[in-house]
Amino acid sequence: LAAGGRGRTAYHFQPAKNWQNDPNGPMYHHGMYHFFYQYNPRGALWDIGNLSWGHSVSGDLVNWAALDTALDPTAPFDANGCWSGSATILPGGLAAILYTGIDANNEQVQNVAFPKNPSDPLLREWEKPAYNPVIAHPADVPGDKFRDPSTAWLGRDGLWRIAVSGEVDGVASTLVYRSKDFLRWERNAAPLHASHAAGMVECPDLFPVAEHGREGLNTSANGAAERHVLKLSVMDTLQDYYMVGRYDDATDTFSPEERERGDDCRNWRRLDYGHVYASKSFFDARKNRRVLWAWANESDSQADDVARGWSGIQTFPRKLWLDKDGKQLLQWPIEEIETLRRKRIGLRRGTKVEAGALLEIAGIASSQADVEVVFKLPSLEEAERLDPIWLLDPQKLCGEKGASVQGGVGPFGLIVLASGDLHEHTAVFFRVFKHHDKYKLLMCTDLTRSSTRAGVYKPPHGGFVDMDIEEHKRISLRTLIDHSVVESFGGGGRTCITARVYPEHAETGNDSHLYVFNNGTDAVKVSRLEAWELATATVNVVGDDGLVA
Ligand code: FRU
Repeated sequence: LAAGGRGRTAYHFQPAKNWQNDPNGPMYHHGMYHFFYQYNPRGALWDIGNLSWGHSVSGDLVNWAALDTALDPTAPFDANGCWSGSATILPGGLAAILYTGIDANNEQVQNVAFPKNPSDPLLREWEKPAYNPVIAHPADVPGDKFRDPSTAWLGRDGLWRIAVSGEVDGVASTLVYRSKDFLRWERNAAPLHASHAAGMVECPDLFPVAEHGREGLNTSANGAAERHVLKLSVMDTLQDYYMVGRYDDATDTFSPEERERGDDCRNWRRLDYGHVYASKSFFDARKNRRVLWAWANESDSQADDVARGWSGIQTFPRKLWLDKDGKQLLQWPIEEIETLRRKRIGLRRGTKVEAGALLEIAGIASSQADVEVVFKLPSLEEAERLDPIWLLDPQKLCGEKGASVQGGVGPFGLIVLASGDLHEHTAVFFRVFKHHDKYKLLMCTDLTRSSTRAGVYKPPHGGFVDMDIEEHKRISLRTLIDHSVVESFGGGGRTCITARVYPEHAETGNDSHLYVFNNGTDAVKVSRLEAWELATATVNVVGDDGLVA
């Protein structure tokens, strides 16, 4: 099947064809958004020696034009691959890329690249100076465990810093390098963070967040009313974790706010409880916000990737800010998504969803849609008792108590990408549990019935929503549906779940249906529901003539 066929998304970032993985070097530069990504120009699978940097530009983070690859493995210092890295805008406006090269000896080194013609508004061509690598691989780090430089930030001493992942004496470390001129880099003896039990960590991201409000901060900001977030991607679990803390630019170390979670970052907060990895954020000076990108891999087989001719999507860009509790991040689709909103349907305010009810939200083509709903819980009396062991594994709990398992307060939520006979469907829902005299709110995406196709990975996804449901008695859910992806934001973006799904009914040209459901014994109310059909964005479209639109 050619690109454009099965599972292809309508408004998520994808190259026209082939493999993509990590987001690389996102930036806003001279009025233009740039997005780079790990790309295999030769095929639909990851290929250890053949990674390039794909490159696209956009005026609005929604519609993208593809350019030629920005970095390809052509030099001795990256002969076996141009792996992940980040962009930094230097004072005066020059854009710089730092990336990992797999050199001719198959060792990981850090390289720099600059625009060949800095006045080209599209920054089409990138030059890799012959003096690379700027950071050779250190003697105490294995040759294949030193990678993924972050965006650089300035300390108060005027020196640049970057974070780089490296395994030192078997410890997954996030190393800090300092530089005066962006070319000569020196490692700080102490790592920014060391995660003793987590294997190799990848793609470190350190960024400041404001204590109050939703505005983002430049990566170099470091004031009293700010916190820092350290995000790490853990190879062992293929998940992204983060922690809010304090970054000290005198020692170049990070101290976590929630010390009780320990130094093993697998016990930190999850960025997303579904299927995303290797996320990276950037400061968007156009709208003063921090925006996050993340890779969502396919969940079917490599043979399917090859047949489709592509693999991997990026999550829809999310705005990030710190919750009032000072501990968790809130994530929300960037407002530009509203430019894609077309037909809208709603549900009457206060609509009651009785025990066992299934209400269809008809009238829009819901295979590419944006749904916002707020549920009101009249009572928590019927909440099931929580077995404390469940607190340890919300994903397993979602597996045991799927959407079809009746509860007290919940499961209630949305059923999306459903076939006419409901044989195929994906459920995004909540369940309230009672724990001593407190309540716990679970959010799940149940994929077990998402596709009748064999050979698809259909795990339960789930996490608790860290909010006081007893006080609020309301829970919001936003779900972005886009053919093969269901991205959900629970509790105003406290808990996010991205799921990849492959409904067969859609492949054979049948419409998908959307429902609100309640499988608890207590009725719930919908205090707001709006659903929009979304237009197809222009994402790296190639015309009939083979040229990019
Ligand atoms: C994360 C990662 C990075 C590496 C890149 C290679 O998914 O393994 O650590 O730089 O992918 O494609």
